[in-house]
Amino acid sequence: MRNNLYLLLAALAACIPATAQSHPDALYDEAKVPKYTLPDPLTLQNGDKVKDARTWINKRRPEILAIYQEEVFGRSAAPPAKVDYEVVSVEKQALGGKAVRKLITLSLAGKKVNLLLYLPAEAKKPAPVFLGLGFSGNQTVALDPGVPLAEEWSIDRVTRKLVHKTAAEDSRGKSTQQWQVEKILSHGYGLATIYCGDIEPDFPGALAYGIRPLFFQPGQTMPLANEWGALGAWSWGLSRAMDYFEKDRDVDAKHVAVFGHSRMGKTALWTGAQDTRFSIVISNESGEGGAAISRRDFGERTKDLNTHFPHWFCANFSQYNDREDAMPFDSHMLLALIAPRGLYVASAEGDQWSDPRGEFLGAVNASPVFELLGKKGLGTDKMPVLQQPIMHDVAYHIRPGKHDVTAYDWDQYLKFADAQWLR
Ligand code: GCU
Repeated sequence: MRNNLYLLLAALAACIPATAQSHPDALYDEAKVPKYTLPDPLTLQNGDKVKDARTWINKRRPEILAIYQEEVFGRSAAPPAKVDYEVVSVEKQALGGKAVRKLITLSLAGKKVNLLLYLPAEAKKPAPVFLGLGFSGNQTVALDPGVPLAEEWSIDRVTRKLVHKTAAEDSRGKSTQQWQVEKILSHGYGLATIYCGDIEPDFPGALAYGIRPLFFQPGQTMPLANEWGALGAWSWGLSRAMDYFEKDRDVDAKHVAVFGHSRMGKTALWTGAQDTRFSIVISNESGEGGAAISRRDFGERTKDLNTHFPHWFCANFSQYNDREDAMPFDSHMLLALIAPRGLYVASAEGDQWSDPRGEFLGAVNASPVFELLGKKGLGTDKMPVLQQPIMHDVAYHIRPGKHDVTAYDWDQYLKFADAQWLR
């Protein structure tokens, strides 16, 4: 009986999409958020103030990056000496003639990762591109019969074991709303996606199926406490896509935006923080461990992340479970690492788990760094009302609705990209 009950509970838990993960004691009352003090992004570890761009770039930025490498996302493998890829096919009449579709296989230390790239068919010059990781195979991005079905990973509802199988034919185009390929193409930009599971399946215990073990020292079986988690591995994969873009003459590699939703939003931020080749970084509802201020006791907390998703961050990060005030960093410093490049942080009203106000405050408190570098920060600490984006070099919006990526979100990102890239 007990066994059956267990199976039933396990089955129910597996039905709850990861995006709805919550815990019963999470606080959602703004009046109850305790006071906190943020570390100053513009004070060096030795106490000196950062007063000019040079000191930020040469001293403070490396200090913050090192903290994030050591204590949050973990250290990633060094970039490879040479980009290893193969262009598998080029279809000039994809999506009813609107796009050129390229299928590229990137080899990440020998592991094959599929990069799907749509470029505007009419392009007369190299096209800027939006790059992002998907939660499922590339075939879900557009209704395009030419994209091969991915080998996807999931957790079996009853046995809780990892399952690896070819995606179903009817999964084609399942995520078109989240990717808005046609809108992107109509602005003259391209879209590139990778299925995160190609780099590392997104489950605790999936380490062996991803790229991280390919970098182990002889005898090593687990990443060290300061070595990369899955978010770091996914990020590393995005940088390898950038290596490829630098070789593709149809891509304007100086104008590539890295985009991500939720856990992939955390990944996009970490990618942009480390790899300054990305000219825009977009965080769609990245929440805790992403744009949201960790010190705020609202919605998800550090301990939730490290408990439910122990594979995402480095082991050192769990020292901050219930100890956010001891962090020598907070999300505003991660966001500041993007400066002076374009940063867009977005929230959804119905996604309180991600703490929209915390995400906004992350962007507010990163703004002084953008301003020091001659860019325009958010310019206010008053949260805008729904669907009233603030669009400077740091941008923010909150829209009605649930945890998702919508056409409205993409309209704003495209407007932002136009402003950043066409000026
Ligand atoms: C869970 C998790 C969040 C994450 C989200 C997602 O809700 O708690 O931190 O952002 O999944 O990736 O959808």
